[in-house]
Amino acid sequence: MNDSPFHPDNHDAYLRWRDAKLADYPAKLEQLVVEIQDPRHPSAAEVAAVRERCRKANMAIYATPCGTDPDKAIPREVGRALGLERLDSHLMTDGDGLSALTVAENDDNRGKGDYIPYTNKPIRWHTDGYYNTPDHWILGLLLHCVQSAPDGGENQLLDQEIAYIALRESNPGHIRALMQPDAMTVPARMDENVMARPDQSGPVFAVLPGSGSLHMRYTARTRSIAWKDDPAVKAAVAALEDILASPSPYVFRGKLEPGMGLICNNVLHDRAGFTDCDGRKRLIYRARYYDRIAGTGLNGE
Ligand SMILES: [Fe+2]
Repeated sequence: MNDSPFHPDNHDAYLRWRDAKLADYPAKLEQLVVEIQDPRHPSAAEVAAVRERCRKANMAIYATPCGTDPDKAIPREVGRALGLERLDSHLMTDGDGLSALTVAENDDNRGKGDYIPYTNKPIRWHTDGYYNTPDHWILGLLLHCVQSAPDGGENQLLDQEIAYIALRESNPGHIRALMQPDAMTVPARMDENVMARPDQSGPVFAVLPGSGSLHMRYTARTRSIAWKDDPAVKAAVAALEDILASPSPYVFRGKLEPGMGLICNNVLHDRAGFTDCDGRKRLIYRARYYDRIAGTGLNGE
């Protein structure tokens, strides 16, 4: 940790890392797109092209000719080829580790309609699984589009390392505040008076053992989140909100169309609201992993 460029006291290593990070950083979303002809068997060159973009920007967009083919093997095999293996399963992943994000019908018996991802509402900036315990932090995320909405549903994307740089440049104290292990707490969730999940405290920024990479847990939600009662944390959160609300050449905006997907090291993202129409209902498969994309870590892991 102490020789990590992410450590707030390690100024020289930070500057070296920052300058390398920002050199030739992609200027537009198109530079992150990789065409994959047969996603069930991606070629070595296609895999290398995705990995190269993820090493630089923690994310890539793949485009396949599969259109609205709902075969879950499409995203799963792309993920597997990039080292994403250990899927996070929970009660809404349909038993195979993948969630089908679509507007829930009223009679859905698992109460999906209570969760914003299963509605057509906008979702504010976040990283996925910010409420998971450290042994189950979500390091990799894949979103595969089977069907897009005719209107809306775009995502904004921001590399968490770019957010880190912006915060550190404004005040290194913000990094120190957000690395505290109790900076952000997700209060316990009660389902019908039974505790479904206990209080979950953790840092916003953490250095991952092994890869040495930066992990970020964040949500811009104001409900169901408690920030540490500490002026430094409050100031850092306000600064981060400012960064996310300001126009930036580093924020990519795009819309996944059928056959396309986002593969990333759980970057910051949001989602615009959308409107379905008859016969065209937005459907996104979401896979969350305990793995980062292989070969994209600070130390090469
Ligand atoms: Fe998300």
